[in-house]
Amino acid sequence: MIELVELSKTYQTTQALAPVNLTISDHEIVGIVGKSGSGKSTLLRLINGVESPTTGRIYLDGQHVQALSKEELRQQKAQMGVIFQQFDLLNNLTVTENVALPLKLQRQKNPELVAELLAFVGLTQKAKMYPASLSGGEKQRVAIARALVRQPKYLLCDEATSALDEANTNEIITLLKKVHQRFSPTILFVSHELETVKQLCTRVFVFENSQYLGEIHNRVEIAEQNELNYFETVKARFL
Ligand SMILES: Nc1ncnc2c1ncn2[C@@H]1O[C@H](COP(=O)(O)OP(=O)(O)OP(=O)(O)O)[C@@H](O)[C@H]1O
Ligand SMILES: [Mg+2]
Repeated sequence: MIELVELSKTYQTTQALAPVNLTISDHEIVGIVGKSGSGKSTLLRLINGVESPTTGRIYLDGQHVQALSKEELRQQKAQMGVIFQQFDLLNNLTVTENVALPLKLQRQKNPELVAELLAFVGLTQKAKMYPASLSGGEKQRVAIARALVRQPKYLLCDEATSALDEANTNEIITLLKKVHQRFSPTILFVSHELETVKQLCTRVFVFENSQYLGEIHNRVEIAEQNELNYFETVKARFL
């Protein structure tokens, strides 16, 4: 569970995020929407621990993140998989090497898991290729496999489909649903594309000019997910 208490961020004189209180349950798929500059990426960076808050606290499973030791913080960060708009793959590494990189940086390896994830995202045939020869949709599928390689509890997506055309966007949304079915991470999906958010998220947080305006329950999507995960559907309705 993620709990944000009076969390805010100010850069010099710019308030990027006004104090916000939010709770996200395990296994939820939440959308974070707002126009450019509304504070969406700032919120993800605070949760991801790459930025520290100006005020407020973040609790992950009841643990106050800012009070953790360096080692505990490292373990918490390992629970976060992140994907970005521009995929952020390393061009001099093959698809397989890109997916394995988060493990390599921890001096670990698990070739079976890497191969399994590549099969899961449908890229076994491209395993030895370099990112330059892949389409945008394929690059994002590599990034998703890479984000999953440390088996994260949370998957943070920052404009993950915003660089893609409609067909590739739909493909990535379908894949993220499959990821949720198979691994059940809590998914935080930041986007300014409302239609895309509507396809994926059961609850949507709305931001404008750094202010949190409120949440919307996406009941259409909840109904669609009925077949996928009945328990989560019931839970979402009781929120
Ligand atoms: N490192 C930084 N230094 C100074 N100001 C920043 C920094 N990062 C973000 N900001 C400012 O904070 C505000 C919120 O930015 P943020 O990137 O969170 O918005 P966003 O909703 O993700 O926008 P976009 O849809 O364009 O990605 C903006 O006014 C931005 O200029
Ligand atoms: Mg952003």
